[in-house]
Amino acid sequence: MTARLVAETGSAPYNAYTQASVQRNAPSPNDAAMTGAFQRNGATCMTSPSYPGDNSAKQLDDLRANAQQRTEIDAALIDLFAPEDDALKAAIAAGQDANMPPIQISPLDGRLLQVLAAACGARKILDIGTLAGYSSIWLARALPADGKLISLEMSEKHAAVARASLARADMSDRAEVRVGPAIESLPGLTDEAPFDLIFIDADKTGYLAYLDWAMKLSRPGSIIVADNCIRGGKPLRATTDDDPDTQALGNYDRLVASDARLVSVALPIDNDGTDGFAISVVVTSAKNE
Ligand SMILES: C[S@@+](CC[C@H](N)C(=O)[O-])C[C@H]1O[C@@H](n2cnc3c(N)ncnc32)[C@H](O)[C@@H]1O
Repeated sequence: MTARLVAETGSAPYNAYTQASVQRNAPSPNDAAMTGAFQRNGATCMTSPSYPGDNSAKQLDDLRANAQQRTEIDAALIDLFAPEDDALKAAIAAGQDANMPPIQISPLDGRLLQVLAAACGARKILDIGTLAGYSSIWLARALPADGKLISLEMSEKHAAVARASLARADMSDRAEVRVGPAIESLPGLTDEAPFDLIFIDADKTGYLAYLDWAMKLSRPGSIIVADNCIRGGKPLRATTDDDPDTQALGNYDRLVASDARLVSVALPIDNDGTDGFAISVVVTSAKNE
C-alpha cells in the first residue's frame, strides 16, 4: 500500500516530489543528519555534507535540487521500465470515481512484482488486498495464459471495481477476486496451493497471520512480498510505539529477517525511499519442516 501524493499534486504522485514533500523530509537544524553524520551499529556514517554556520538557504537549495533529481530519476525509471497503459490508468481512475483511497502500489512496485514472478516461474499467484485491482493487473500479466491469480478482498464494493478493472485489462480469464476477510478465505485455498508468489497488502495487523498462511500455501522457491514494511522507519525503530499497524509491521519485519525458513530483505523504494516491500524467498516451506 503506497500512499500516493495525489492530494498534494493532483497528478501522479510517484513522480511528484513536491515542495511539501521536500519540507516534510527536511531535517531540523538539530537533526544529526544535518551535521552529516548518524550512528549505525555504533559506527558513525557520513550522509550529506555538513553546513557550518548559518547557511540554511544553501541547505534548502541542496534539498530542493536533491528532491528534483529524485523526481526526474523516478519518472525516467517509470518511463523506461514501468509505463502504465490505459487499463492500469483506468483501474486508478475507477478507484477514485468510487471514492476508494488512492493507496495502490506504484508502477515500479508493479514491475518489481512482475520481475519476482518471472524469477520464480509463477503460474499461481495469491494477492491479499485487492482495492481497485491495480496490483492484480500487474500480477496477472506476469502469468502464462493458463496461470491463475486469486485476489482476496474484504469489501464487496472494492471487489466489483477490481473485477471491472481486470476485465478491461483482459485478465478475467486468469484472475479471480474472492470476497471476505482474508483470514477466513485463506484456509479454503489449501487445495489450490502451492502458490508461487504471494503478495500481502491488506490490513497491517493481519500480516503475521497472512505470513503464517503464506508459509502453508507456498513451496520452497516461492516468493512472499509484503508492502509497507518500512513506513517511515517506524516499524524498524527499537522504540515502543502503541500504533497497532506499526507494531504489526515491525513484528513482520523482525520475523522474516530472522526466520531460517526464509531469505528476506526490505527495500526502501517508495515515497522518497521511506517505504517499500519486504521480499522473502521460501527456503523451507511449512509442509517440509
Ligand atoms: C492497500 S489496499 C490494496 C492495494 C492493492 N494491493 C493495489 O496495490 O492495488 C488494501 C485492501 O485490502 C482490503 N482489506 C482490508 N482488510 C482486509 C481483510 N481483513 N481481508 C481482506 N481484505 C482486506 C481493503 O478493503 C483494501 O481494498
